[in-house]
Order: sequence, then C-alpha cells, then structure tokens
Amino acid sequence: MRKYDNYTIAEYFRKQGAQIGEGCYIIPRNLGTEPYLVRIGNHVTIAKGVTFITHDGGAWIARDEYLDIQVFGPIIIKDNCVIGQNAILFPNIKVGPNSIVGAGSVVISDVPPNTIVMGVPARPFGSIERYKQKCIEQWKQQKPPDCLIEPDKNWWNSKHFKENREKLRKHLLNIFAEELRLSSTKLKDTLNENKRCYPNIQ
Ligand SMILES: CC(C)(COP(=O)(O)OP(=O)(O)OC[C@H]1O[C@@H](n2cnc3c(N)ncnc32)[C@H](O)[C@@H]1OP(=O)(O)O)[C@@H](O)C(=O)NCCC(=O)NCCS
Repeated sequence: MRKYDNYTIAEYFRKQGAQIGEGCYIIPRNLGTEPYLVRIGNHVTIAKGVTFITHDGGAWIARDEYLDIQVFGPIIIKDNCVIGQNAILFPNIKVGPNSIVGAGSVVISDVPPNTIVMGVPARPFGSIERYKQKCIEQWKQQKPPDCLIEPDKNWWNSKHFKENREKLRKHLLNIFAEELRLSSTKLKDTLNENKRCYPNIQ
C-alpha cells in the first residue's frame, strides 16, 4: 500500500476489481467492502474520508427469515467529478459527469450531470458554471504573479513546483495578512516559522 500515492492508488483498487479511469486523484485507501462494485471515470478527485457503501446492512433485520440475506448496489462516478471531504456514497447511485458532491454530504440518489449537490441527504444546489467562474476569479487573485510553469506542464508536474509552492505560501500570507492579523514584522516571523516547520519547502 505504501508504494502508492494519491495518483497511483487507482492501480491498487483495480487489482481489487474496481474500474477506474485515468488521471484520478484518490485520497482514501479503501473503496468499501465491495470495491468491484465501484466504477470511477477519468479525472475524478475523491477527497479525504469519503466512504463508499455498496451494501445495505439494513437487510440484517430479515435474517430471522433468510439467514444469509445481503443486499448490494453499485456506485458509479462519471468523468471530471469531485467527491468532497467525508462524503458518504450509498449503493445504487450514479454521479453524472462534471458534478461536485459537497463536503460531508450523504448521497442517496443519482446526481445529475453538471450539478453541485450538498447536504444530508444531498440535494442539487446552484450551478457548476457559476461555481467554476467563482473559482477562476479567486485563483486570478491567489495565484502568485511571478510563478513559472512551462507551457506543456501544470502546477503539479512543473519543474518549478517547489519554488512555486513557496511563492504561493508567501502570496497567500500577504493576501490574508489582515484576516490572520499579521503585521509586517509578524508576517516576516510567520514566514520564517513556516519555513522551520516545513523544511521540505525550499
Ligand atoms: C459544495 C461546494 C462546492 C459549494 O461551494 P460554493 O458554491 O462556493 O458554496 P457557498 O460557500 O457559496 O455556499 C452556498 C450555500 O451552500 C451551503 N453549503 C456549502 N457547502 C456545503 C456543504 N458541503 N454541505 C452543506 N451545505 C453546504 C452554504 O451554507 C450556503 O448555504 P446558504 O445559501 O443557505 O447560506 C463546497 O462548499 C464544498 O463542499 N467543496 C468541497 C470541499 C472539499 O471537500 N475539499 C477537499 C477537496 S480535496
């Protein structure tokens, strides 16, 4: 298990029978008790603490009549979706392409394509397009102006990743200095302290 990272863990799950596309970023280290009932498309993010439930334990109550009764259902996640932190996915659900499941949501029914769902139980809320534009606007402000990325690379696979991350840290601390109540002296101290605590950041 240790040899896998969040990009390559898909290989491990495929060995357990899960069907997983390309370019997925998966933080959890298990897909529940029936991983072979899980199908995930391309370019999907599964955040920390997401739970896959592919069986209905409630069938337990019928075991006085049927000793071995068990009930199952698949979980299908289509391309380009985000499953937010600590979401719970129930059996027999399909998450349509380009959709987001909000953090902490409990998904008990299908999520239509291009839809944000959230809550318990998860219900559609707002438009993906509006959310996408909001993210783009925020990144325009939060992206360090002096970061370097080769034309055929992205943030994560650029050879400048480490220096860009350091620039990002400084840039974010500047942007949020007021909220974090950082005076310019305090800001300098915080940057140094961060450097001490995270020595891997060059
Ligand atoms: C679902 C999500 C994408 C919505 O983002 P957004 O559109 O910017 O949402 P807003 O902050 O504008 O909130 C809109 C409304 O949804 C509610 N809301 C937001 N996220 C929610 C969630 N996860 N569950 C329940 N309600 C939520 C807010 O309370 C607000 O309700 P209101 O209109 O009654 O005040 C986002 O909140 C989320 O959960 N992202 C995933 C975070 C995560 O898991 N990160 C780790 C990734 S690796």
